[in-house]
Amino acid sequence: MKVLGLPRGRTILDVACGEGADSVAFLKRGFTVTAIDFSVYALTKLQERLEGRGDYSMEIVQHDLRKKLPFPDASFDVVYAHNALHFFRHKDTVKIFREIHRVLKKGGLFFVKCKSVKDPIYATGTKVEDHVYKRKIMRHFFTREYLREMLSLFHIEKIRHTRSVFWGDHIASFEAVAKR
Ligand SMILES: C[S@@+](CC[C@H](N)C(=O)[O-])C[C@H]1O[C@@H](n2cnc3c(N)ncnc32)[C@H](O)[C@@H]1O
Repeated sequence: MKVLGLPRGRTILDVACGEGADSVAFLKRGFTVTAIDFSVYALTKLQERLEGRGDYSMEIVQHDLRKKLPFPDASFDVVYAHNALHFFRHKDTVKIFREIHRVLKKGGLFFVKCKSVKDPIYATGTKVEDHVYKRKIMRHFFTREYLREMLSLFHIEKIRHTRSVFWGDHIASFEAVAKR
């Protein structure tokens, strides 16, 4: 997803940042970055990426997205959630999208990419609830309508279906850009 063309110095929250490749790319483009994830392993890798680069710093927060985000209302210009929000049951998914809306500034942008029901591993493993399956980890496969529903508090600018390769796997996703 491209987050180009935004003025430097804007604040961005990278939700479920993993090892933080995108967080570091945002930092290099001049964003003030906050990166959150619940994996200590991933956050340590991110910290290691930054070590020795005194000119780069970001706020790194260990956090479980099923809990309230640890930021005040209207904290960020951009929230970025890349392959990050398809691990939750419906009830938690609703809460997470609501929390993201809360921490975004008015007029702020939300970029989201989630697994779609056309993904090659759709419906593998044990069914947990509609479009949610557990195979080692739980995954929630989005329809276009479901993503629209989750974004109902936002102004949707764009939604599209995409196919890409992520860590060697072919994946199918819905991507959206929405404004608060
Ligand atoms: C597929 S990785 C994506 C990482 C990164 N956004 C990227 O695109 O490279 C998903 C990330 O979600 C994180 N994650 C899963 N469940 C989470 C939760 N309940 N709270 C916070 N992070 C979670 C995992 O630790 C993992 O780093």
